[in-house]
Amino acid sequence: MREATAHAAGRINLIGEHTDYNDGLVLPIALGLGVSVTARTRGDRFVHVASDAAVTPREIAYEIGHERRDGTWGDRVRGITAALGERGELAGFDARVTSTLPAGAGLGSSAAFAVAFIRALSDLFALGLGDMEIVDLAHAVENGPFVGARSGLLDQLASVYGTRGAALFLDLRDRASDTIPLPRDLEVAVIDSGTRHAHATGGYNRRRAESEEAAAHLGVSSLRDLEGRPLESILDRLPPPLDRRVRHVLTENERVRSSVEALRADDVEQLGELIAASHRSLRDDYEVSTPELDDLVDRVYAGGDVLGARLVGGGFGGSVIALTRRGRARAAADRVVASSERARLVAVVP
Ligand code: GLA
Repeated sequence: MREATAHAAGRINLIGEHTDYNDGLVLPIALGLGVSVTARTRGDRFVHVASDAAVTPREIAYEIGHERRDGTWGDRVRGITAALGERGELAGFDARVTSTLPAGAGLGSSAAFAVAFIRALSDLFALGLGDMEIVDLAHAVENGPFVGARSGLLDQLASVYGTRGAALFLDLRDRASDTIPLPRDLEVAVIDSGTRHAHATGGYNRRRAESEEAAAHLGVSSLRDLEGRPLESILDRLPPPLDRRVRHVLTENERVRSSVEALRADDVEQLGELIAASHRSLRDDYEVSTPELDDLVDRVYAGGDVLGARLVGGGFGGSVIALTRRGRARAAADRVVASSERARLVAVVP
């Protein structure tokens, strides 16, 4: 019997939301929280996986080559074994999943789960998968028939290439990346609102379809191709709500560039303003916020000391990040969490 263990990190995204699948710019930071998978060979073709997370079911079991979708977290495992099994590279295994990342909180838990799982299987069966192959396979599983979320590459890239204490500036057009150290005077509180939207995947997929519809309408293959053209002349040609969706994506790319400049200049106040503007754009133009997230952001500001706050990840529930000067994030978060039934502080970055 052989055994392999792998870990993969979750992420926050400082800024650059819903830009990844539009060939745009993102700025994630890896979290200390993540998913670990320990897998052991067994002498047959069966897969048995148990999870310690508060999920239903707690365990799944099936035979490789007989993966059947059931709408639970197990589908992500089935998608992975179906893809690797097709290459004839897999045998049966037992696996245990442990997670310190809240699921569905906009912190990249799905990608961390897939990346950790694929890494463990790659080790166990000596598949020799490289980092970028792992990114692409985890992404293909997410977008494939078993899971069906049409997500971009942000979470997988952040999990594999991200670091703690620095932001990863990524251009999804060519996957070029640059590591940008965080200013010494910056701290980020990650607060889980505790709310989840039952139709989050549907809402997310609809936004992606709207982006594609807008690009087709404008005769470009991706919204990134519009860069450099005057915004008003683009928006005039689009019916609502596509004009608002495009305004978010194009202005968000600009905010990512400005945020990189602010990070490099140690200008935490300017960064805070960009984060605040990103939330307004996600709320009003991209319409992926919820009343609970807006309320949490408002209350974070009301507590004082916060330079900027916004929803993080895909939206429709999940978490909020709040930027403060060094040493102030925990207290700022505690003030909000104390007066809230469901919200909780997940992490302080760095
Ligand atoms: C989710 C998706 C990512 C990205 C973000 C929004 O986390 O998995 O690909 O689109 O939403 O920026």
